Amino acid sequence: MEVIVHDTPADVAEATSRRVTGLITGSNHRFSLGLAGGSTPEATYKELRGRGTDWDRVDAWLSDERWVPPDHERSNGRMAAAALLDHVDAVFHRPRWSDQLEASDSAAYYEATLRSIHGVDPPDVVMLGVGEDGHTASLFPGTEALNETSRWFVANHVPSLDEDRLTATYHLLWQARVLMVLAVGQSKAAAVKASLDGTTPAGRLGEGKGEVEWHLDRDAAALLV
Ligand code: 6PG
Repeated sequence: MEVIVHDTPADVAEATSRRVTGLITGSNHRFSLGLAGGSTPEATYKELRGRGTDWDRVDAWLSDERWVPPDHERSNGRMAAAALLDHVDAVFHRPRWSDQLEASDSAAYYEATLRSIHGVDPPDVVMLGVGEDGHTASLFPGTEALNETSRWFVANHVPSLDEDRLTATYHLLWQARVLMVLAVGQSKAAAVKASLDGTTPAGRLGEGKGEVEWHLDRDAAALLV
């Protein structure tokens, strides 16, 4: 586990975009890049589109998605496409959505897609955020998906939001070579502290095989001694 504190949110975006392109350029295989949702990573994605790397070797996918139409303003895939994937040659794999489809079926289809693009290789990088309640991806406190031990991707009902989500499971996240958690702002300071103390869903990311990097701005790191 590595905690890197940057001065400002802009410094987090610059450093994490540089880190991701460095990992892509330094690899010699098709590169699997899991993308976080929410608002924090958008600045990183916008920085990434200006950085030259072998995007044509990249398979991008989502570490979670809200169960909404693909063009909905709350869609993580819509955000990631507008900020990055519409501007680079990476292949962007998004979950299927239709009002005739159950979230659980879409998660199963998405898992099949992810298993087919990975084969026996692990994800190279999975970018994640952390919520004020310590959730990461859509692994929210007290929800079913936290207990999933064999599936890679599942639908997860989040009572606190009264919303269905699709989310990577720990079983998938723990295989990644690098997990990169981004958090900025004072509102995340308590969740960051609790996560690094291991008492939140995000706090369990370190139980996997790969490196876990927390990229914080000073405000989000304010409660770390
Ligand atoms: C989502 C996310 C979620 C997000 C955190 C932080 O769909 O909301 O994937 O896990 O990373 O909620 O969100 P912000 O970056 O908006 O604070």
